[in-house]
Amino acid sequence: MDWTDRVGVVTGAASGIGAATARRFAARGMRVVGLDLDAAGLAATHEAIGAAFTPVALDVSDGAAVRAAVGGLARIDAVVNCAVNFLAKGIDVTQDDWDRVLRVNVQGISNVVQAAHPLLAASGHGAVVNVASVSAHAAQPSRWTYNTTKGAIVTLTKCMALDLSADRIRVNVVSPGWIWTPEVAKAAGGDREKWEPVWGRFHMLRRLGEADEVAAAITFLCSADASFITGAELPVDGGYLAMGPEGLGDDSSFAGTDAREER
Ligand SMILES: NC(=O)c1ccc[n+]([C@@H]2O[C@H](COP(=O)([O-])OP(=O)(O)OC[C@H]3O[C@@H](n4cnc5c(N)ncnc54)[C@H](O)[C@@H]3O)[C@@H](O)[C@H]2O)c1
Repeated sequence: MDWTDRVGVVTGAASGIGAATARRFAARGMRVVGLDLDAAGLAATHEAIGAAFTPVALDVSDGAAVRAAVGGLARIDAVVNCAVNFLAKGIDVTQDDWDRVLRVNVQGISNVVQAAHPLLAASGHGAVVNVASVSAHAAQPSRWTYNTTKGAIVTLTKCMALDLSADRIRVNVVSPGWIWTPEVAKAAGGDREKWEPVWGRFHMLRRLGEADEVAAAITFLCSADASFITGAELPVDGGYLAMGPEGLGDDSSFAGTDAREER
């Protein structure tokens, strides 16, 4: 895949899956415009990628800022929406919590796709990939906010895919399982060795995923190899969603790092 001269817009590019996607795109020759709140994180991605990466510090929920940054570009071939507010609230949720999490996780995607739409259409092969989660499909304790926004992203993806199909823009969504990114590392207190055997068992593959494994699926969905795929959800979850309540059964073996190395 040679994507020289193509331009990708990646939100959440300062960290985790967004940064991994920016690196994959750049490795294929693409120029990447990374949008994120975190200027220091963007600078780190910039340093890792070099001149092919343009950092833009903004809040994706700020429609005017997104229009100014994205609308002013000369070309856009792909948009990837990774930016997220991880707020997890349940019965204690406030009006402000709802306003914030919906504005960032759902409306933020709408802002970026709206702004990029004319240039995606002009490319003749535009692709959008949104990032939802296994949490779109499962109840988890005290997560009215995060999980609801992830469910909304799956539905938003289908509506976008229908409306943008006339412009030959494909819109898909990936739903990751537990991926070792800073948010998960924070929950683990940085102790992957302790927590991977516990959380890994939520997945058939008995381990956590890597940001680059999600980036690989995103890159596929943006490529010509996915030319007849739109409105689809691709779980990148090591079998999390396919597993029944019996879990892994009696087999308590833990493949962990070995399985990763075998890839
Ligand atoms: N890590 C996981 O286990 C996991 C699992 C399922 C789904 N996901 C999804 O994958 C996507 C990426 O997650 P990640 O784990 O790489 O997270 P991350 O925390 O590493 O990256 C998220 C980025 O979004 C940015 N961001 C937050 N609010 C923003 C805003 N208002 N405007 C612009 N940028 C903003 C943050 O600064 C951060 O750089 C998210 O949609 C997340 O819900 C992650």
